[in-house]
Amino acid sequence: MSKGPVVILGGSGFVGRSLCEHLARAGLAAKVLTRARLHARELWMLPNTEVVNCNVYDEAALTQCLQGAAAVINLVGILNEQGDSGAGFRHAHVDLTRTVLAACRQANVRRYLHMSALNAAPEAPSHYLQTKGEAEALVAASNDLAWTIIRPSVIFGPGDGLFVRFHELLRLAPVLPLACAAARFQPVSVLDVAEAFVTALNDKTTVGQRYDLGGPRVMTLAEIVRYGLATSGRCRLILPLGAGLSRVLAEVMEHLPGKPFSRDNLRSANLDSVLPAGHDGLAALGIAKTPVEAIVPGYLGNTGSLARYDQLRRHAGR
Ligand SMILES: NC(=O)c1ccc[n+]([C@@H]2O[C@H](COP(=O)([O-])OP(=O)(O)OC[C@H]3O[C@@H](n4cnc5c(N)ncnc54)[C@H](OP(=O)(O)O)[C@@H]3O)[C@@H](O)[C@H]2O)c1
Repeated sequence: MSKGPVVILGGSGFVGRSLCEHLARAGLAAKVLTRARLHARELWMLPNTEVVNCNVYDEAALTQCLQGAAAVINLVGILNEQGDSGAGFRHAHVDLTRTVLAACRQANVRRYLHMSALNAAPEAPSHYLQTKGEAEALVAASNDLAWTIIRPSVIFGPGDGLFVRFHELLRLAPVLPLACAAARFQPVSVLDVAEAFVTALNDKTTVGQRYDLGGPRVMTLAEIVRYGLATSGRCRLILPLGAGLSRVLAEVMEHLPGKPFSRDNLRSANLDSVLPAGHDGLAALGIAKTPVEAIVPGYLGNTGSLARYDQLRRHAGR
């Protein structure tokens, strides 16, 4: 890899924080572009990691930030938009990717790693997966760039939107009506996802390739929720909902603050998020899969671990 920092868009988020730690451990300099430096406060103290304010939708400003970079990693993604037209997803996934690719060319940065998602395809049933698929198509058509695309199933780790999300939801609620309870996922550790990026950065054979990432075990959503309950020693009633009631729940919840669940999420969950046969990206990259059991108890258990304090701090906005 050429000299210069690895520039990361979306580096302040759940995956980005882990990726930045991996890069720091590998001795690589990182430059995280953020819409607000405060979002990336957990990265301020990382060695060799610079956090810079940038309007990533502004091609000129972005080009400026990419000057001298060894590579660019685009992690930006949203799970929800205002309304249900797809415009918000298209803006954050497709328009932004087009701008990033153009800025890479302007700044003469050839190495580009792109975060997508399992099942992303232009003809997928949800706006999220469709626009992720359209962004992938833009990347794959960039013959002048050395690109790699990473496509994980749902990701777990401290601060995740999976085990932690249900853990928080079930803190007070004695009963959980669960939409898409039978939807199948192959949860992959954020540590393995971060390692996949670092491995790809250092391995030229990954250029022009897409890697589907999944963990060692396929779990239904109901199994995921029940595993979280068992790990945290709680007893709650889970009520799996059928298709009709799942839709009603989505319609209600997308009007709640923070849009915890939406019709678009429901459409995504209609596809199993499981590795297709012969598409094991972690195996192809030589990365051993971390099981759920190896790390979830460490951040979800009621053992008073530091991760618990991290969650509290995040909730309090500190
Ligand atoms: N988490 C999963 O289970 C999972 C599974 C498969 C794929 N993925 C993909 O992995 C990527 C990272 O996921 P994550 O869980 O780390 O997400 P995250 O925690 O929400 O972080 C995403 C980051 O993107 C930036 N961002 C958010 N909305 C944006 C917008 N509208 N315009 C520009 N930047 C925006 C934010 O950075 P600033 O606020 O600092 O600007 C944020 O820190 C996403 O592309 C996601 O689709 C995630």
